[in-house]
Amino acid sequence: MTAKTKTAKSNPLWGGRFSGGAADVMTRINASIDVDRKLYAQDIAGSKAHAAMLAKQKILSPRDGKAIQRGLDRVLKEIESGRFAFKTALEDIHMNVEARLAALIGPAAGRLHTARSRNDQIATDFRLWVRDAIDRLDGRMRDFQRALIAKAELHAATVMPGFTHLQPAQPVTFGHHLLAYVEMIGRDRGRLADCRRRLNESPLGAAALAGTSFPIDPKATARALGFAQPCANSLDAVSARDFALEFLAALAIGSVHLSRLAEELVIWTTPQFRFVALSDAYTTGSSIMPQKRNPDAAELVRGKAGRVIGALVGLAVVMKGLPLTYAKDMQEDKEKLFDAADTLDLCLAAMTGMIDDLTVNESAMRGAAGEGYTTATDLADWLVRAAGLPFREAHHATGRIVRLAEARGCRLEQLPLAAMRAVDKRIDKRVYSVLGVDRSVASRVSHGGTAPAQVRRAVKAAKARYL
Ligand code: ARG
Repeated sequence: MTAKTKTAKSNPLWGGRFSGGAADVMTRINASIDVDRKLYAQDIAGSKAHAAMLAKQKILSPRDGKAIQRGLDRVLKEIESGRFAFKTALEDIHMNVEARLAALIGPAAGRLHTARSRNDQIATDFRLWVRDAIDRLDGRMRDFQRALIAKAELHAATVMPGFTHLQPAQPVTFGHHLLAYVEMIGRDRGRLADCRRRLNESPLGAAALAGTSFPIDPKATARALGFAQPCANSLDAVSARDFALEFLAALAIGSVHLSRLAEELVIWTTPQFRFVALSDAYTTGSSIMPQKRNPDAAELVRGKAGRVIGALVGLAVVMKGLPLTYAKDMQEDKEKLFDAADTLDLCLAAMTGMIDDLTVNESAMRGAAGEGYTTATDLADWLVRAAGLPFREAHHATGRIVRLAEARGCRLEQLPLAAMRAVDKRIDKRVYSVLGVDRSVASRVSHGGTAPAQVRRAVKAAKARYL
């Protein structure tokens, strides 16, 4: 096939203005049906609402109105049962549905498009699809939070090292660590809910861009489709895609959160860490190295974040130079968004499964929690509290004590009292009470802190807030 090959017939939608047909390559670059067929349910729901409104406003006869409703129901059934033949020549979902409607009910089908354009139609379909996707993803995120909270409850007092710079910093509990992700996912859900609220306006009635001269009732179509109200400005209605950008931004951030946890799982499952083990269900072996257990699912979640972020960047680039209103560039808004939604959905399911199945190596976590002088801050705080030192001075004294322990190759609590008193005479034997990891975490009782009692409270609060 060459670029010059042309179809003989002109397009049935705009054939009046054209004498020739499109080049085959034009048909290929123009067609979106392979992507936007995903919108069939939204497209038919939108058409039914529009047709019902036209009939109510007496723009359509009751007879044509009924024929259109019945015909659209039939088309929906055909698509859902897999009997519908989607045609590339018919370009997109709108024309595929309308052409079939015409075959079923005859010329009355041609009245459905009164006071409407594919521009307000696609904007409506797309908003409806994103709205459904938000509801679906919100449920998935809640399931993920449920898995995290259940594990956090089990490990409210399981001590592990908390890190900064991936260097041991202070002991925390594993439950506390997991609840940090519950908060992130909570904000991801909040971002989706904000996006949902803002996108929930109906573009129908904007028609091509300027509105229509027919006496339509856009509030009625908005209501029928569950929108809060019609869009206020017809130009904005057909050209706005910030709802899609906002959705993708929320997804991109969510995928970053999943990716960070995935990275931690990759680190924690190494033989060097051995903090947790993933189940057989979420790991793979190696075809050559019999000892291997690879955290593939976690790695894929980490990798797929790139896809979701790419979708956001891709759509922002498509939109950034577009003058108002609709331009065909905007047809590129759907494929990546659909993929991003499916991708995050899959990643959430995989992460939920991994967390559900995850087993914790409490002794490895506890052992590591005490390495790297993680209770040095407790020692400095003790010097402030018990010996009355200014914190800066206490920090300095503690630093010297850490150096001593390092030189002797022992932990802080293994240093003899005399060695510590050589650094600062005000130290006495009570200091040992703060040097153990359990005492350290138990003392972090401030709001949002890691003390097991606080973590148990936070588990309760998270259940009430999110589940
Ligand atoms: N397939 C188009 C899209 O996805 C529908 C809108 C077409 N409108 C137009 N004026 N050609 O954007």
